[in-house]
Amino acid sequence: MRMTAALYDRYGPAAEVLKVVQVDRPEPGPGQVRARMQLSGINPTDWKSRSGATPRPIDGFQVPHHDGVGVIDAVGDGVDQSRVGQRVWTWMAAAGNQWGTAAQWCVLPSRHAVPLPDSASAELGACLGVPAMTAHRCLFADGPIEGKNVLVAGGAGAVGHYAIELAKFHGARVAATVSGPQKAELATQAGADLVVNYRDASAADRLRSFAAQMDRIVELALGANLELDLAVSGPQTHIVDYAAEPEDPVLPVRKCMNANVAIRFILLYGVPADALDLAAADIAAALRAGALTELPVTRFGLDEVARAHQAVEAGTVGKVVLEIP
Ligand SMILES: NC(=O)c1ccc[n+]([C@@H]2O[C@H](COP(=O)([O-])OP(=O)(O)OC[C@H]3O[C@@H](n4cnc5c(N)ncnc54)[C@H](OP(=O)(O)O)[C@@H]3O)[C@@H](O)[C@H]2O)c1
Repeated sequence: MRMTAALYDRYGPAAEVLKVVQVDRPEPGPGQVRARMQLSGINPTDWKSRSGATPRPIDGFQVPHHDGVGVIDAVGDGVDQSRVGQRVWTWMAAAGNQWGTAAQWCVLPSRHAVPLPDSASAELGACLGVPAMTAHRCLFADGPIEGKNVLVAGGAGAVGHYAIELAKFHGARVAATVSGPQKAELATQAGADLVVNYRDASAADRLRSFAAQMDRIVELALGANLELDLAVSGPQTHIVDYAAEPEDPVLPVRKCMNANVAIRFILLYGVPADALDLAAADIAAALRAGALTELPVTRFGLDEVARAHQAVEAGTVGKVVLEIP
C-alpha cells in the first residue's frame, strides 16, 4: 500500500528540498507502533535539521517532524495488541527514524506514542512533544520544584508556555518574561504569577520583588538575558539554557562566581532515556488533569509543508501544524 508523505533527501531551503510524494507505507518493526496521523506539529528543530543549520543524519530520505497526533493502527512484535485504536501524541518521532509525523502514517518506538485523553484537543496533542519534553527537563533536571520560584524567559514561546504550565502544575511560583502585550497575555493565560517585559528598565526590580533568588531560570537567550538572570540568582539558582543564540555569548565568569550560580545546558537529543520517559509520564498526567493548554495554532495542508516550515522560520507566534489528509 502507498501513502502520501512530505520528505527531503538533502539539506537546503524549504521550497527547494521539501517534496510531497507517494511512498510505500511502512510496517512497524519490533517494539514499534504505526499511527495514522491527523496533525503534524512543527518545531524550530525540524527546519534547522532540514536546512542543515543543525544537521541530523539522513538515511536515504527523511519524513520530517517529531510531534503529531494520530491513532495507532498496527503494532510490531513485543507491543501489546490492545494499543491498536489508541489516540496518541508523539515525541521525538523523527530522532534516528526516517518516518517522522509529516505523512499519512508514522512508525515509531511504542514508548514515543503516548495516549491522549479524550478531553485534549488534537491541536494540543500535536504540539506537545518537543516543547513540553524540553520544558520538563529544564524544570526537573535539578530536582523537584514544589514551592520553588521559577523564572521562565520567553513565556509566550512554545517551550516557555509549557514550562509555565508544568511548573504551576507541580506547585511552583512562576514569573515569566515577554517582549510585549500580546505575549504578556499568552503568558498570563498559561498561569504565570508575574509577567514582566524584559525590555523594561524596571524588569530586574520587578523580578527581585517577586523572588530575591530564583530556584530555576528556564532560559533561551543566555547572552541577552544573563544580566537580568544574575540579578535574581544565588547559590540555590540553576539557570537552564535550552537554545543557542546566533552568536555565542562571552561568559562574565566573575559575576557568575559572585552569584554562586549553576548553569546547565540541555539538548533534547541527548537527554537520558529515563529522564525522557519520566517527562512523557508527567506530561501525560498533566494532560489528564487538564493542566496543559494549546497555544494559538496556524494550520497548513500537508502539500503546503514548505510554506509551513517558512512560517516557523519566520517566528510565527504560537504553533504551526500540518493537516494530514
Ligand atoms: N535544546 C533543545 O532540546 C530545544 C528544544 C526545543 C526548542 N529549542 C530551541 O529553543 C528555541 C525556542 O523554541 P520554541 O519552540 O519555544 O520557539 P518559539 O515558540 O518561537 O518561542 C521563542 C520565544 O522566545 C522569545 N524570545 C526571543 N528572544 C528572547 C529574549 N532575549 N528573552 C526572552 N524571550 C525571548 C520570543 O519572543 P520575543 O522575540 O517576542 O521575545 C518567543 O516567544 C528555538 O531556538 C529552538 O530551536 C531547543
